[in-house]
Amino acid sequence: MESFRNARVLITGGLGFIGSNLARRLVEAGARVTLVDSLIPEYGGNLFNVEDLQGKVTVNIADVRDEHSMKHLVLGQDVLFNLAGQTSHMDSMQHPITDLEINAKAQLYILEACRQSNPGVKIVFASTRQIYGKPDYLPVDERHPLRPVDINGVNKLAGEWYHLLYHSVYGVRTTILRLTNTIGPGMRVKDARQTFVGVWVRALMEGKPFEVWGGEQLRDFNDVDDVVAACLLAAARDEANGQVFNLGGKEVVSLDRLAELLVAANGGGSFVRKEFPPERKKIDIGDFYADASLIRATIGWEPKVTLSDTLTRTVSYYRQHLVQYL
Ligand SMILES: NC(=O)c1ccc[n+]([C@@H]2O[C@H](COP(=O)([O-])OP(=O)(O)OC[C@H]3O[C@@H](n4cnc5c(N)ncnc54)[C@H](O)[C@@H]3O)[C@@H](O)[C@H]2O)c1
Repeated sequence: MESFRNARVLITGGLGFIGSNLARRLVEAGARVTLVDSLIPEYGGNLFNVEDLQGKVTVNIADVRDEHSMKHLVLGQDVLFNLAGQTSHMDSMQHPITDLEINAKAQLYILEACRQSNPGVKIVFASTRQIYGKPDYLPVDERHPLRPVDINGVNKLAGEWYHLLYHSVYGVRTTILRLTNTIGPGMRVKDARQTFVGVWVRALMEGKPFEVWGGEQLRDFNDVDDVVAACLLAAARDEANGQVFNLGGKEVVSLDRLAELLVAANGGGSFVRKEFPPERKKIDIGDFYADASLIRATIGWEPKVTLSDTLTRTVSYYRQHLVQYL
């Protein structure tokens, strides 16, 4: 963490779930942090996420689709954590062009701005396991074919490859992290745009049963603190330059089991099992869990937080702060 003392750091999507947790950690490490976020209401940005950081970070409300703002914002930064994104799979199907503009086109604005005005910057890009599509085998490693099943996956894939290309052609130091489902304080719980776990938590907090669709699908989950640790390591280590790494959870569980663990973490509550709605079924990827051995071998990251600790911490956060997220 010493490498971040006085470092100038820009986080796109910095008012969102992962970005704000990352900002907190960077402030503790002595970095000079700027957060850029558009605060579009349907997305995960929330000023409450950084309430405790007031006066300690610079907040710039701007849209990554604004080429001129991005040119200005990347100037002089040592590290860019590029986390801004449209995250909803269903929204990407309903508004494909918006998804394209944020997850692909804006990524080119950002990379071009860096190439032209700050080619020495280190960039960590938050990609997603969604780009693999329905797995051919499990656990999914980085050599697995890429066959996105929705518009969001296609555009995130383009965003990822632009970053890789700017490394191979222009030498910009970029690292790609393919995130799996991430949980923790600050996640969007208003609706399922970011994660279905969000609506489960909200229903629990409101004393209502939550819905488990299917139930047998296997998944892995990361605590947001583990994801933040991966971002920091990827930024600090040169071995990560030009690399693509999966993140992956400590445990693999069915959604039924996850629901039971969540109820246990809350000390009560209930859920009902439902058939998958047909429009969701079409873009569902079935079982998925990642092989994260490459990042462990290359830069020494591995998940530390157990799923049940993550769920307990998350539930206790929303018990206190739910109203700020509705
Ligand atoms: N949370 C997960 O489970 C998960 C899984 C896979 C990948 N990811 C990726 O990680 C990144 C961060 O995700 P998150 O979970 O923190 O979600 P989030 O929605 O909380 O964060 C994304 C942030 O980007 C901001 N944003 C969106 N469009 C923008 C724009 N045009 N200009 C400026 N800001 C904009 C949003 O306001 C939000 O604050 C995303 O790129 C996402 O695709 C997250």
